[in-house]
Amino acid sequence: MIIILLGPPGAGKGTQAQRIESAQGLVQLSTGDMLRAAVAAQTEVGKKAKDFMDAGKLVTDEIVVGIIADRIEEDDCKNGFLLDGFPRTVAQAEALDNMLGQKNLKLDAVVEMQVDDEALVDRITGRYTCADCNQGYHDQNLKPKVDGVCDNCGSTNFKRRADDNRETVSSRLEAYHAQTAPLLPYYNGQGVLKTVDGMAGIDDVTAQISDVLSGLN
Ligand code: AP5
Ligand code: MG
Repeated sequence: MIIILLGPPGAGKGTQAQRIESAQGLVQLSTGDMLRAAVAAQTEVGKKAKDFMDAGKLVTDEIVVGIIADRIEEDDCKNGFLLDGFPRTVAQAEALDNMLGQKNLKLDAVVEMQVDDEALVDRITGRYTCADCNQGYHDQNLKPKVDGVCDNCGSTNFKRRADDNRETVSSRLEAYHAQTAPLLPYYNGQGVLKTVDGMAGIDDVTAQISDVLSGLN
């Protein structure tokens, strides 16, 4: 199965992708996570991407298309994958269509997570993750069961993203509306767009996405 999670920054793509990955065995491919790893490792891609990311702007199509083209060749993608944060422009969507077409693969669904802009700022400014296993949390909405201890791996190290501040969030939202929202009519035209209410609680959104995925089988 090949699924795209589409939604604005803070919509819950990463949160839901981690849940679907463990429930369905579909590997999560997050271009944001891959780019942050490249920035931390100071690779050539990381050096090119850093300024765009810090400013809340999209990294070039060439960079992210290259990253995904390489990643989907790996063994763990053989049984399908879940794209989180890619594609984000019509040019990226067209490049993905070409990549899948060459491999005789088809996109099963694009799940749009609808969330109001006002809710996104709170979600993003309250977000943190486990520094060791990347499990996501939120200051109010999703705390670890034991304060200060990761539910998933028991680590006590947590981190916040450099771009999770109010100024960058508004640029990221602008980029979403101007460059990514045109993917909604693009995928609607392909008959693969499914919409869920991303304003609902985290468990409720997981249930809505599970319903969409079970309807595909
Ligand atoms: P990326 O890392 O993809 O960031 P993003 O799209 O801005 O999305 P986020 O990761 O901020 O949000 P999310 O939807 O994953 O929300 P989450 O689940 O964490 O990209 C970062 C940057 O990299 C971009 O700005 C760009 O520069 C570059 N980039 C990446 N991909 C690119 C591409 N394809 N092309 C070009 N550039 C690219 O949830 C947020 C918080 O809310 C969490 O704390 C969570 O606990 C909480 N939460 C989640 N769901 C709910 C809920 N239902 N109710 C209440 N709280 C919730
Ligand atoms: Mg994310």
